[in-house]
This record gives sequence, C-alpha cells and structure tokens, in this order.
Amino acid sequence: MQPSPYTPGEVARTVPGRASQLADIDERLSAMVDLGRLVGRIRVDHAPRGFGKTSLLREYQRRAVARGAITAWVTAGESQGLIAQIGAAIASATASLGDEASTRLLDRIESLKLTIGAPGIAQASATLNGEKVQEPVGVRGFEAVIREAASYGAGIVILIDEVQAADEAGIRTLVYAWQHLQAEGADIPAAVFAAGLPNAPEVIASVVTFSERIAYRRLGPLEQEAEEIALVGPARALGVTWTREAVANALSVAQGYPYTVQLIGDATWAAAGRPDPGRTVGVDDVERGRIAMRDDLEALFRARWAQSAALERRMLSAMAARGDDPVSRADISADLQIPTNHLSSPRGRLIDKGLIQSADRGMLEFTIPGFAEFVRDQEGG
Ligand SMILES: Nc1ncnc2c1ncn2[C@@H]1O[C@H](COP(=O)(O)OP(=O)(O)OP(=O)(O)O)[C@@H](O)[C@H]1O
Ligand SMILES: [Mg+2]
Repeated sequence: MQPSPYTPGEVARTVPGRASQLADIDERLSAMVDLGRLVGRIRVDHAPRGFGKTSLLREYQRRAVARGAITAWVTAGESQGLIAQIGAAIASATASLGDEASTRLLDRIESLKLTIGAPGIAQASATLNGEKVQEPVGVRGFEAVIREAASYGAGIVILIDEVQAADEAGIRTLVYAWQHLQAEGADIPAAVFAAGLPNAPEVIASVVTFSERIAYRRLGPLEQEAEEIALVGPARALGVTWTREAVANALSVAQGYPYTVQLIGDATWAAAGRPDPGRTVGVDDVERGRIAMRDDLEALFRARWAQSAALERRMLSAMAARGDDPVSRADISADLQIPTNHLSSPRGRLIDKGLIQSADRGMLEFTIPGFAEFVRDQEGG
C-alpha cells in the first residue's frame, strides 16, 4: 500500500501543461538575475478557481529561489493592505540575513508602514512623464524598499496571489512604484508576478489607467497531454502504471480542469487499493473512483450554488438549460424575460466568482466542467 501521490485541493507538486508560462518566467528571471534588470511589467496570470494559479505561482517562486533571488509571497486581501503585507513579507524574507543592510531595510519598511497608515493623506502630487499627477502616498517609500531589497542576493521577486482581492490603495501604490522604477530606467533586479480570478484585469484597470504596464495572461484548461502527465507521472514515480483505457476514461471525467484531474487521480488510486509498486491501475478502478469522487465535486458545486443569489441562480439555470456550450446574453435574457441590462450585475458577480466567463462575441460559458450538469440537476430543487 502506498499513499496517494495526487493533490486534490492542495498546491500541485509539479505543473504539467504550463510550459509556456514557465518559459516566460524563466526569460524574465534571466534578464533580472543575469543582467540585473527590472522586470518592467507586472505579470498577472488569471483564471477561475481551481485552474492552478497558486500552484503556478509557487512554481515561479521555486524558480526564482533556484536562481538565488529573495522572494516575498503574499495572499492579498488582508485588512492591513497590500503594501503593508508586501513589506512584512520582505522583512521576514530578509530578516535571517541579519546584517547592517537588513536593519536599514527593516527601518525603511517600518517608515513605509507609518506613511501608508497615516489617515487623511491618500494622495500626494507628483510629476510622472512630465505630467502633474496625484500619486498615492507611500509610492516613494515603497520604491525605496524595493531598491534596498533588490540589493540582496540576485534580486527580489514579489509574488501576489488573489490579486483581485487587494485594496485599491495598495494596487495603486504598487503600480505607480513600478511605473517610476521603469521610467527611471532603473537597473534594479526586481519583479512582480501575480495571480488572480478572471476579474483581476478589470479590478486593476478600475484603479490605475496605465494598463500597458501590466501583462495579463489568461490561464486556460490543461491540454490532454498535460493531463496525462499529471495522472501517469506521479504513479510511475511510485512504480505503478495506468492502462491506456484507464487514462482515457479519467481524462473524459477531468476535461482539462486541474482540480478534477487531481480528484479523479486520487479517487482512482484509493479505489485501486493504494497500489504497491508493480501494480496497474485499470478502467474498473477509474469507474469506482469516479463514483467515489462525485461527492467531493458535488460538495464544491453545492457550495458555489449556495453562495449565489436568486437571480444569479436563475441565470445559471438558463445557461445550463441550453447545454454546455457558450450561450448568448440575448438568449439568456429572452429565456428569463428580463432585459439584458438587468442581467449585467448578476453576470458580473458570477464572473467575479469564476463560475462563468465571457467567450467570443459576447457569449457566456461555464468555467468548471460538470457545473452545468449540476445546475440542471438543481431544477425544481
Ligand atoms: N498543472 C497542473 N496539473 C495538474 N494539476 C494541477 C496543476 N496545477 C494545479 N493542479 C491541481 O489543481 C488544483 C487547483 O490548484 P490551485 O490551488 O493551484 O488552483 P487555484 O487556481 O489557485 O485555485 P483557487 O482559485 O481556488 O485558489 C489542485 O488540486 C492542484 O493540485
Ligand atoms: Mg489559489
């Protein structure tokens, strides 16, 4: 008996299928570490819940560490605000260095906290690209912290998870500071990599206008080959093989959704009796696994459903009733007999929660495989 190598609901140990993202990051890290340059654009990978954002960001962090950079990880949304969170993360990442310079850095972080904590002065005027602008307080202090932190090791990499939950002032300060560093042609080895829900671009754009400073990247479902690697790889490392047919059946359950890949892998592993080295996982195991995992997936769906308001549910039901493919807003509006403009707020909330997303030509679609089917089962219930 061997424990399951799968990670439903946990950060993935490896991130198959994310080669292009990792190639981008490797390139940025290389410019940062080898050339000592600022990574000028803040990167934001965005996707609905369960698509592997946190796992990907952790992999970025591992790569940054492997190159000798200092990393500061924050999960945005705490009451102290994004900038104070980043300050604290930088402080703890550098505390162990314990020399004179790190004392200087800690002092800077403390004074930054005082600046942004001071009530009543949210803005200060400054000149940016020759234009007079109102700029958030704390930008200069934050910049100083970044400059100082970047002098350690191979540079500083700030990782921000759940960026859509960050406070407005924090986002503004971060983006302005980055804009300054960039405009000053600063040779500062520093980077910001962030991840968030699909509404992250909208949230950020509502706070700062210069969106060209930010590289938004949509994180999609896994390609079939990546799913296969995610299923077969961890088993093989334990000396266990999946039959071809078993893999095919598991893939048809997962449909490219990373969380479900792990769920079906894990449930199949248990159904196969947590196999010893030399054993094989077959279709019967997958079938029993599929039945066993249904409760977990349903629990996830039920929680999402319970968190949706009445009109949101009606909208989900109308979409689901039309099948699993993208649905036009006009069709939803006609089915519900509610004008399209009345649907824009529930639509926005469902997108913010990552339950639906916009597809081509103003169409809407479900994000999580199996959710439409679940919604159809709720009819009348
Ligand atoms: N590339 C991948 N291949 C296979 N499984 C993955 C991959 N990336 C993540 N997973 C798995 O998918 C699930 C969701 O991963 P993760 O928590 O990173 O997603 P997330 O997008 O951050 O979700 P949330 O929005 O809920 O925070 C986990 O079970 C994780 O182990
Ligand atoms: Mg996450």
